[in-house]
Amino acid sequence: MGKFIINGGKPLNGEVTISGAKNAALPIIAASLLADSPSTLLDIPQLRDVKNLSAIIEKMGAKVQQEGSTIHIDPSSLTTPEADHELARKLRASYYILGVMLSKWGRARTTLPGGCNIGNRPIDLHLKGFKAMGAEVRLDHGVVEVTADKLTGSQIYLDYPSVGATINIMLAATMADGKTIIENAAREPEIVDLANFLTVLGAQIKGVGTDVIKIEGVDKLSGVEHRIIPDRIEAGTFMIAGALTEGEIFVRNVLSEHVKPLIAKLHEMGIELEEDITGIRIKGSKIPKAVDIKTLPYPGFPTDMQSPTMVLLTQADGTSLIIETVWENRFMHVDELKRMGANIKIDGHSALLKPSRLTGAEVTATDLRAGAALILAGLVAEGFTEVRDIYHIERGYEEIDKKLRSLGADIEKISD
Ligand code: UD1
Repeated sequence: MGKFIINGGKPLNGEVTISGAKNAALPIIAASLLADSPSTLLDIPQLRDVKNLSAIIEKMGAKVQQEGSTIHIDPSSLTTPEADHELARKLRASYYILGVMLSKWGRARTTLPGGCNIGNRPIDLHLKGFKAMGAEVRLDHGVVEVTADKLTGSQIYLDYPSVGATINIMLAATMADGKTIIENAAREPEIVDLANFLTVLGAQIKGVGTDVIKIEGVDKLSGVEHRIIPDRIEAGTFMIAGALTEGEIFVRNVLSEHVKPLIAKLHEMGIELEEDITGIRIKGSKIPKAVDIKTLPYPGFPTDMQSPTMVLLTQADGTSLIIETVWENRFMHVDELKRMGANIKIDGHSALLKPSRLTGAEVTATDLRAGAALILAGLVAEGFTEVRDIYHIERGYEEIDKKLRSLGADIEKISD
C-alpha cells in the first residue's frame, strides 16, 4: 500500500504549482458523456480517482485518450449506461454516471459508490431528485438502477446543500424535458466549474453559485475544450504547510476567492500572507494565535480543510475549538495525531486543542484529508514520521511528495 517517511523540522521555501481540482474534474469527465462529440479537458489532475473514472467510461464505450494533464473524451461510441461495478466501488464520484446516463438515455446502473470513510454517506437526496423528475429508482443488493420513459423537469428542494446531489440533479436536468429548479443547492466552486462546462456544451443553466439553480433541458450538446479550476483544497494544504514550517512559499495557480475562509482564519492566526493574481505567498515562523473553526457548506470553512488546519492549531498559542458539522466521522486523524504527541480532546462533533510539541511516530492515513494532515504533522514534528496507507492520499493529491521535496521537505515514498 506504500508509505511516506518524513524527517520533520525542515523549513519549506520556493514555489509550488497547484493541480486542477479533483472534485471539479470528476463530474466534468462524467458530464462530457452528455455531448454527442468529443471534448478536451485541460488541467486534469493525474490521480487514482481520475484514472478509475476514465476506466469506467472507457468500459461504457467512450474513447479516452490522456496526454499528461490533458484528456480527450469521445462519447460518440458509448454502448452501455452501466458502470463497471468493481471500478465504481473505488470512488464516490462514479455515481455521476447515474445523472448523466439518465439524462442522455433514460437509464443508468451502478453499484453504490465508495470513497472516503468519513461518515454515513447516503445518496437519498440524489435519488429524491431523480424521482421528482419522474424516474423510477430500484436498489438491489447494493446496485442502483434508475430509469425514466420521459425525464421531466421539476422543482426540487434539497434538505441539505449536498455537493453530490446538486451535481447529479444538474446532470440529469441538463437534457430532461422542461425546467428544473434546485432549491437549497450547494454553491461550491466545483459546481460553478461544472455549470460553466455544461453551458459551453450548450446547456441552459442559471443561478449557479447561488442556492437556487434553474436548468432548462436541451436536446443536444456538443463537445468543447475546457480548463479545470485549480484545486482549492490542495492549495489550502500547501498554504498550511507554509504557515507551519519556517520559510516562505508561493502557492501558484490558486483563485484566492476560493480559499477566502482559510485566508480569513490564517489572518486571525496572525500568519503573514500576500494575495496576487497568480497565487498566494505565505510566510511561516510566527507562532499562530489559537482560533475557533466551524466547518460548513461553501462559502463556510471547508470540511476538507478541517484536518490540515487542526495540525496548524496544535502549534498555536492557546486553546482552539474545532466543530465539524458536515461529516459525523471526520476526526479519525485525531488518534493518529495523539500518537505524535498532540493534545486534543474530542466531544461528539467538537475537538478541543491545546498547544503541543509533535514528535515523529508511525501513523496510518484513514482517509484522504486525514492522510494529508499526517504528512503536515510529519513536516513539523521532531524526528521521523512514517505515514502508512498512502493510497488514500494519492486518490486526491497529485505527487504530493515530489511537490513537497521541491520546497525542501525531507519526504521519501516507499512503494510496496
Ligand atoms: C463532496 C466532496 C467532499 C467534501 C464534501 C463536502 C467530492 C467528490 N467530494 O462530497 O470532498 O467533503 O463534498 O464539502 O466532490 N448527504 C445526505 N444525503 C445525500 C447526500 C449527502 O444526507 O443524498 C449528507 C452527507 O451525509 C453529509 C453532507 O450531506 O453529511 C454533505 O455531503 P455532500 O455535500 O453530498 O458531499 P459529497 O458530494 O459526497
